[in-house]
Amino acid sequence: MTRVLLVGSGAREHAITRALCNSGGSVSCFASNLNPGIMALAAGFELGELDAPEAVVAFAAQQLAELAVIGPEAPLAAGVADALRAAGIPTVGPGRELAQIETSKAFARDLLMRHGIPGCPRYRTFDALAGVAGWLAELGDSYVVKYDGLAGGKGVKVAGDHLHSHAEALAYCRELVACGGRFVVEEKLVGEEFSLMSFCDGETLRHMPAVQDHKRALEGDRGPNTGGMGSYCDANHSLAFLDDEDISAAQAINEATAAALKAECDEPYRGFLYGGFIATAGGSKLIEYNARLGDPEALNVLEILQSDFLPICEGMATGTLAECEVTFRPEATVCKYVVPEGYGAQPRRDCTLVIDDERLAASGVSLFYAAVNQPPGGALETTSSRAVAVVGSGATLAAAEAQCEAGLAAVSGRGLHVRHDIATPPLLAQRVAHMRQLRGKRVAPVAGAT
Ligand code: AMP
Ligand code: GLY
Repeated sequence: MTRVLLVGSGAREHAITRALCNSGGSVSCFASNLNPGIMALAAGFELGELDAPEAVVAFAAQQLAELAVIGPEAPLAAGVADALRAAGIPTVGPGRELAQIETSKAFARDLLMRHGIPGCPRYRTFDALAGVAGWLAELGDSYVVKYDGLAGGKGVKVAGDHLHSHAEALAYCRELVACGGRFVVEEKLVGEEFSLMSFCDGETLRHMPAVQDHKRALEGDRGPNTGGMGSYCDANHSLAFLDDEDISAAQAINEATAAALKAECDEPYRGFLYGGFIATAGGSKLIEYNARLGDPEALNVLEILQSDFLPICEGMATGTLAECEVTFRPEATVCKYVVPEGYGAQPRRDCTLVIDDERLAASGVSLFYAAVNQPPGGALETTSSRAVAVVGSGATLAAAEAQCEAGLAAVSGRGLHVRHDIATPPLLAQRVAHMRQLRGKRVAPVAGAT
């Protein structure tokens, strides 16, 4: 058994724990909440501040960890991976300098520009208002303003969505300047978003299937942005609105970005490289990079990972990924999150959640606990964030979606919300029609689309 330290305790980390335990790992989790799914599997468990390197290293030492895997971005930004490596523990997760690929929008855009990597919208970086009005005038109605740092998905404001005039855009920029922030103003891209994540050891990349997340809180892609309400991936490891070229272009961008990071930074990028892409009329473009696995996307890909996850993590952490087998089963997956009503804006805090274990087992789904707490012997408590994720799989997307819904029927309670429209035929048809329209192809009427 390899002793693995895992940092983080959401549904992504529950799925990582399961995958590590199923492939010969013994997991000790440094957690921010009492995740009952992880606690049931883990050999060690400690609550603490995930962005406190000394505390994480002390726990790793106490647990005699031989490998570390970092789940969320906050510890990466705080240098937890650097501290673990300095303590001699091979670690999956980039150091603080490399994690700028996620923590600084300007770093990511500038890196791609310097290396001639395709896929970037036109952009400029500012730390004062001078020049912003002129740049907005050049962009016209198609602009996005992004705070240049981690803001939990709240720092991005898109024209037509959150901003309705240059005056509103300038007011937001003024706010960012006032709190001392740098920001990026870039061209708004129009298309369909998808996530393409790669395992990376600094040299070798192994790509995961393309997945589509749903950021908006409400059905029909309405409501505020969230951490992600659910995601799906088809049995061919692609999405119906994507061409093969969209996928290969995104893979090539991840490869070129890893090579650029290698050329510019002193240490290898050892971890997950998650490209947030958008398929446009002009091909795949990059919206942003993340330095970790996506949540919920991790739940889709780990569900169908055929190869053992532990050796892949060891391969990433030690620069030997080229020797690893990385294959995924040809199955579709659908993940839907159960969240408190109002999640993304003003979440209810009085939710209750009950899981009918027999019914859940009969459905055949996987269930992962997210931001919930269950003290040993106590009741399950929800928080203001996502509660549980249910993942269905099957030979077709329809079968996976039906299984996911059967699993969701085993979850009941007060004040809960689920986006049941994820991976349903009307939503899928809408995505395909949108892409065909952008690509100038004939669009058949979409039955049942709202
Ligand atoms: P981010 O925090 O960079 O993931 O941005 C959050 C969301 O804002 C993305 O998922 C997109 O929906 C949207 N977004 C960010 N940048 C752009 C862009 N250049 N064009 C269109 N939408 C964008
Ligand atoms: N799926 C969105 C995220 O992990 O950031």
